[in-house]
Amino acid sequence: MSGGRNGPLLLAVESSCDETSIALVEGGRRIHANVVASQVAMHAAAGGIVPEVAARAHLRWIVPVLEEAWSEAALEWSDVDGVAVTYGPGLAGSLLVGINFAKALAYVRGKPLIGVNHLEGHVYAAWLSASESAADRDGSAHEEPVFPLVALVVSGGHTFLAEMRDHLTYRLLGQTVDDAAGEAFDKVGRLLGLGYPGGPEIMRAAAGATRRDIVFPRAWMGTSYDFSFSGLKTAARRIVDAARADEGLPADDPKARLSRETIAELAYGFQESVVDVLVTKTIRAAEETSARSIVLGGGVAANRVLRERLVGEAQARGLPCIVPPPALCTDNGAMIGAAGAWRLAAGDRAGLDLDARPSLPLATR
Ligand code: KG4
Ligand code: ZN
Repeated sequence: MSGGRNGPLLLAVESSCDETSIALVEGGRRIHANVVASQVAMHAAAGGIVPEVAARAHLRWIVPVLEEAWSEAALEWSDVDGVAVTYGPGLAGSLLVGINFAKALAYVRGKPLIGVNHLEGHVYAAWLSASESAADRDGSAHEEPVFPLVALVVSGGHTFLAEMRDHLTYRLLGQTVDDAAGEAFDKVGRLLGLGYPGGPEIMRAAAGATRRDIVFPRAWMGTSYDFSFSGLKTAARRIVDAARADEGLPADDPKARLSRETIAELAYGFQESVVDVLVTKTIRAAEETSARSIVLGGGVAANRVLRERLVGEAQARGLPCIVPPPALCTDNGAMIGAAGAWRLAAGDRAGLDLDARPSLPLATR
């Protein structure tokens, strides 16, 4: 640890999907810099991520992103106590760019290298001091997650609910058996003729709904904590087709778009279904495991309705619910620096043989 600091300062690299990001994070909490170069605009034309294109873009941007991070923070290499990097899960080529870059930095600067699970990063974003809970909004002090807790991670590739009884330990309570929540948002966004990624577009469209009378199905999966979103996608297709027929639109012409009002109602109905299932299961899991707090993370946690509903339901039960600001819910390096600090403190060190693990799990049942 460097003098005067609250814990180790980590330089953290994230490149698992379509954001190239480098952050400088102190003590797993304080962000000195968090630069994110997003490829969203680049992949929008294809309507999704093209892995080779993503990996090449990481190569193109990783050095400028590092330079930008240094220029944002009043720090230098001598302040850095370690280099943290996402080594999975994610796209193999994208992960390799970040891992090899981080390895080279750690090696030439003589710093320890820490491999971080991307999903653990989404969980640890809740410890970053910019994260909020209902208490913060009431004007009281910033609340940190307390154990035991229940963590819901909802991203483009993953949806799971885990119990944490202490740092870095996870018991999987449930996960999606098919599509991830973010994937469902993206696919339904496409069905509605909205842009990529569908999540933020659906959230914006849904805000314009007034009738709010289109009900999408909910896949409760019995009493299990597992999730399923593929049936919802199929139902969405059926409901969208019926709405198109109602408006006299040809079924096979994507340029003939539904009216703005109908898109808003459909987006609202879909979003309600996803949020309802996510919130209901998370609250039940928190009650059944006697959790003392709830943590929400992952790109879909940028959704305002999900954030507000989960925080509200938790608050009604006297449970703090900690939610990172939207920019720390979607992929970023700061969350890797947050998780990396706890890994470093636990003595975790990666060797120069650290390899990409595209299907790295976070927890098992
Ligand atoms: O965590 P993330 O940035 O990348 C992965 O690790 O997958 O999550 C990306 C996902 C996308 O599916 C995107 O549509 C979704 O998060 N997302 C949202 C919102 N913002 C991003 N979904 C719903 N509402 C949002 N506001
Ligand atoms: Zn992610």
